[in-house]
Amino acid sequence: MKTTGGSDGAKRRAGESAAALVEPGMTVGLGTGSTAAHAIRRLGERVADGLDIEGVPTSFDSRQRARDAGIPLRALEDVDTIDLAIDGADQVADFALVKGGGAAHAREKLVDTAAERFVVVVDSSKQADVLSHPVPVEVLPVAHSVVAGTVRDAGGEPSLRRADRKDGPVVTDNGNLVLDCEFGDIAEPTALARTLSEMPGVVEHGLFVGSADEVHVGTDSGVRVLE
Ligand code: 5RP
Repeated sequence: MKTTGGSDGAKRRAGESAAALVEPGMTVGLGTGSTAAHAIRRLGERVADGLDIEGVPTSFDSRQRARDAGIPLRALEDVDTIDLAIDGADQVADFALVKGGGAAHAREKLVDTAAERFVVVVDSSKQADVLSHPVPVEVLPVAHSVVAGTVRDAGGEPSLRRADRKDGPVVTDNGNLVLDCEFGDIAEPTALARTLSEMPGVVEHGLFVGSADEVHVGTDSGVRVLE
């Protein structure tokens, strides 16, 4: 899994801080990435101590981590409610997020926005005044060059995500491809989110606007909670 951002200690503090919010009987959305992995690990420890919860994974990776941690799992289609989702982000500005560094943003968006409470876990290197991180856009494989052209028309610079040390493209858990789209400073994330959603061939994009309820920011000495 691609890891970005600050120190592992800061990520661990953020993940564990969010894991402490989980209460008995909850159905918990389990995010993807190295910061969410700390929350999953901590929840596994709490399950081993008797905490009765069910997890809803957002990716193959988070499912494997949750299994290894001993967290009972349910599929998204089998649950009525998700009480709390815990997930990472590649950048956060005023509760708007860019996600998808792990190419899991389509399922993450389903789970995170379905949750009653969505808690974002990041280290402080992910905070910004204005979003400017390239926006991952998951596309149908047959549509990648068409969508790339449409993104250029919308003022973005797309680049097909490739697997490290391999020639082939990254393929998502859903069998699709990812265009990382550079837009510079994103002054109006809501408008850009709408533009990207309306493009034929786009499965989902990594702009999350209006869904985060809380952000737990891990630092080298503690956790700042924004709500
Ligand atoms: C995966 C994601 C991740 O949550 C995001 O990339 C942050 O990852 P990390 O905590 O490893 O920095 O959106 O699709």
